[in-house]
Amino acid sequence: MRKCLICNTPIQPFMSFGKMPIANGFLLREEFASEYFFELQVAFCEHCGMVQILEQPDREQMFNENYAFFSGTSEGMKIHFKAFADDVMRNYLPSDNPFVVEIGSNDGIMLQNFAENHIRHLGIEPSSNVAEVSREKGIQTVCSFFDAVLARQIVEEHGQADVFLGANVMCHIPYLHSVIEGIDILLKPDGLVLFEDPYLGSVIEQTSYDQIYDEHVFLFSVTSIRYLFAQHGMEVVDIAPQKTHGGSMRYIIARKGTRAVSPQVSHCLKSEELMGLHEPAVYGAFKKSCETSRDALLKLLTDLRSSGNRIVGYAATSKSTTIINYCGINSDLIEFISDTTPVKQGKFSPGAHIPVRPYEEFKSRYPEYALLFAYNHAAEIMAKEKDFVMSGGRWIVYVPKVQVLE
Ligand code: SAH
Ligand code: TYD
Repeated sequence: MRKCLICNTPIQPFMSFGKMPIANGFLLREEFASEYFFELQVAFCEHCGMVQILEQPDREQMFNENYAFFSGTSEGMKIHFKAFADDVMRNYLPSDNPFVVEIGSNDGIMLQNFAENHIRHLGIEPSSNVAEVSREKGIQTVCSFFDAVLARQIVEEHGQADVFLGANVMCHIPYLHSVIEGIDILLKPDGLVLFEDPYLGSVIEQTSYDQIYDEHVFLFSVTSIRYLFAQHGMEVVDIAPQKTHGGSMRYIIARKGTRAVSPQVSHCLKSEELMGLHEPAVYGAFKKSCETSRDALLKLLTDLRSSGNRIVGYAATSKSTTIINYCGINSDLIEFISDTTPVKQGKFSPGAHIPVRPYEEFKSRYPEYALLFAYNHAAEIMAKEKDFVMSGGRWIVYVPKVQVLE
């Protein structure tokens, strides 16, 4: 019997997406035979409300010197993280020699804003290739996984932190209790935790099941985050919904009783209750919506292909690994996936082995249809791909529903 990673209650999967490879495991032909697969099953804990996957590959299999995700590949995200950092600098840092720690700092997309303002900072980033990019930008970075042991070392060397940051990383870590013990060691008594991750409510509302893959061990809600931090004497003092990654939530957390709690928190808890996020029936309905979406996408691609259209995937996102493998999309349907990340180009997509090609190949010979795997960056992408549409090209999207955009 599986137990909830947060509260240890026995849990059962409400659905399986089948065998899945490492979502960011873009690979060479000679690596096909040794590719790693695991079963992507999802469960909801009726006790604490946490949605979680039941099996996750070892962390070193996902986060290592070949990590394929570089945060700086999106201009929109650079703007987002500048605004996030500006908000922290304006509202949450003391004037006297502040110290900021960020986990999952990747190529430094957020911390560069603190570095430019000469604010003491430290990034914790276990994937050495992206950590190196941030160091080259002059950002102080430790190449390691964050936990309580590392927190002690940081305090010995640098003192306690005023603010602990994380974006799209807390939901990657199965041992969150150890992380929060580390936060407790690291943070000054009146320090703050600010982190954001894809929001469970948005995933359920939009059937964006592609947010479920190996790295995303959890889908958070205010309900489950409140429960988790309460186990460590901390509370959610504010929240801020974000448009990023198809709908995210930023949580602001402090030691209990040190800050006033915004009414936004109870409003959001109420709205989660109204959505039924605590009811198993909602996850049964979500499973059905995933199946309907899968069947519609496969039918649309098959119909378009059998009428002789070329279809190219746009952006080899980690999310697309769930879509491609769950729907059974292969290189008969999608000629290649265009991506701007050099380390992905010339490789093949995990599981289905669709070729990943440089963006220039999309530009030089537009297909009839482009399947937008990075729908979360739609505004940025649509703005720069006007020529594709002008030349008669059409976008296929699947969130919130499968459709060809007119
Ligand atoms: N914050 C960036 C990167 C998100 S990707 C952004 O939002 O764009 C998640 C990052 O977290 C990866 O770079 C990965 O190497 C890192 N990571 C994974 N587990 C971690 C852990 N236990 N401690 C710190 N970083 C971790
Ligand atoms: P993202 O949705 O952040 O990826 P993930 O699902 O892995 O979190 O998208 C990043 C990927 O999309 C990255 O491989 C680069 C690619 N990309 C393009 O190819 N073109 C673009 O215009 C953008 C914004 C991203």
